[in-house]
Amino acid sequence: CGIIGYLGYRQAYPILINGLKKLEYRGYDSSGIAIFFENEYKLYKTKGRVYELEKKISSCRGQIKGTMGIGHTRWATHGIPDDINAHPHVSNSDELIMIHNGIIENYYAIKVILLKNGFIFKSKTDTEVLVNLIEYLKKENKLSLEEAVRISLNEIIGAYSIAIVEKSHPGTIIIAKLGSPLSLGINEKEFFVSSDPISFIDYTKNVLYLKDGEMAILKKGKDLDLRKIIDNHRLNPIIKKLQINLNKIEKGKYKYFMLKEVYEQSKTISDTLRGRLLIPEKIICIDGIESHKEIFVNAESITIVACGTSWHASLIGEYLLEELTRIRVEVEYASEFRYRNPVIGKKNIIIVISQSGETADTLAALKLAKKKGAFVFGICNVVGSTIARSVDAGAYTHAGPEISVASTKAFTAQITVLVLLALIIGKYRYAIDDNRYKFLCEELGAIPEKVNYVLKMNDTIKKISQLYHNVNNFIYLGRGINFPVALEGALKLKEISYIHAEGYPAAEMKHGPIALIDENMPVVIIATKKGCYDKIIGNIQEIKARKGKVIAIVNKGDIQVNLLADHVIEIPNTDEILSPLITVIPLQLFAYQIAFSRGKNVDQPRNLAKSVTVE
Ligand code: G6P
Repeated sequence: CGIIGYLGYRQAYPILINGLKKLEYRGYDSSGIAIFFENEYKLYKTKGRVYELEKKISSCRGQIKGTMGIGHTRWATHGIPDDINAHPHVSNSDELIMIHNGIIENYYAIKVILLKNGFIFKSKTDTEVLVNLIEYLKKENKLSLEEAVRISLNEIIGAYSIAIVEKSHPGTIIIAKLGSPLSLGINEKEFFVSSDPISFIDYTKNVLYLKDGEMAILKKGKDLDLRKIIDNHRLNPIIKKLQINLNKIEKGKYKYFMLKEVYEQSKTISDTLRGRLLIPEKIICIDGIESHKEIFVNAESITIVACGTSWHASLIGEYLLEELTRIRVEVEYASEFRYRNPVIGKKNIIIVISQSGETADTLAALKLAKKKGAFVFGICNVVGSTIARSVDAGAYTHAGPEISVASTKAFTAQITVLVLLALIIGKYRYAIDDNRYKFLCEELGAIPEKVNYVLKMNDTIKKISQLYHNVNNFIYLGRGINFPVALEGALKLKEISYIHAEGYPAAEMKHGPIALIDENMPVVIIATKKGCYDKIIGNIQEIKARKGKVIAIVNKGDIQVNLLADHVIEIPNTDEILSPLITVIPLQLFAYQIAFSRGKNVDQPRNLAKSVTVE
């Protein structure tokens, strides 16, 4: 979810609506705003995207006046996406109005107590429970709002960033954070509250990132009052200057951002290599590694932790790092890692990978790793994001803003950074032969051009996709370093076309998935020359013997697979270890073309969010 607030001298409505549009990557299944004027407020909420909210409000726009307001765009956790469950939520007495990002884990126990005390609930949300808890404690103990908020938050288990307003005390917004991101933009005489400073950067570059366990009392015309939730201790605000400059992000000639981002990959891989890979000299420099050289040279193991597409990049990282550095590597889902008691300490490196730099599970895993004394290295795309700010060292991917929910260019940029890491650490540890190192540096430099070649296959891919857009199931197969690419291909298809797809290591097919194969089952298989080619041919034969349809990704000039497969997509040759940077591209295009032919909203698929800040 994304939360937003404004308190100052300008009209709040346009600031909130435009800000919410920029926060939609955090959820877009319902949205709402509350605008305050004297002792009254107007509340508008609706199921659906922010433009639906704007539509709903358009007839009464003239009546929305007020220089203070809060707003929310939701990714449902408790309760279906509808008008009632949309935020802001209002307390029983109609006095307190609140927005919330996060999850209140003990909401049920609190709800039971409140029900016994006569409270009634309109929505199914945990947020309505919290706003009523604040009201209950406020009334029972005759507290000020800030005291009631503080005491209530000390009763809460879970994660939150909130903004709350008391109707009869206009001119004050109280905000607080634990676990979910929250930033505050500060100008003379005005405050901007947001889950992401992207939404207020047009107005101010002075930003305060609230830390976990902090709350702030924002009052019209007064200085910021920052406190610790636990003991009300007053804190000194540390205000930073935002470095981001946002150019307007447009789709240009593309129908969807996803297609634009797929097509950008030659450039984004080059951008990620720029200044780091010096091709004629065959030198790789990454500051975050160089300044911690000893740690990498002496590491006993590396664990890579991530979610979603970033987890697939991590699996590719496992192959790359083990092969080139000879350090033992493990990969874990952040959501699993954080709830185990992993055996890690000072000699272990944890690499966290996250496009957004905000994923709640990845952030929690990072904190656990740090607590256990491990060195944490981050690979993030969003500059200044929470994860980027929390790691011991890191390297940014320079993919630029990724708008489409389905990640594409961030994925190849993550792999690019992983290749650079593996090469540089491998060299430091003398684990890689000098000639191979030089060859891989050169090959890596040639990848952007090869990506351009693959993009020319789009018409062929489109034609193939038209034959299959009505099927209900797909299998994706790959081997070695292309096994995670098969997983990623299947994930892309699921995310945006809602077709069930499974990724498998090709040889594992005979232990189960082969039972699914008949004339209706298409199988996408990565069959590039160097990756167990003969074995893959065997796997293709097994599929054909059961009348399955084979769509194969092959190297230019391939003969054998051509004779067997129903369709082939030809891509340029490269070293096997770099091949995921190329093999994934036809799979991204294939998923796009299928989703497009099925008439889906490719950029904003149902039920998903770009940045998941709840666990
Ligand atoms: C969400 C997105 C995925 C993404 C995953 C991890 O589920 O929809 O596209 O891969 O989060 O996000 P991160 O920002 O941590 O890479």
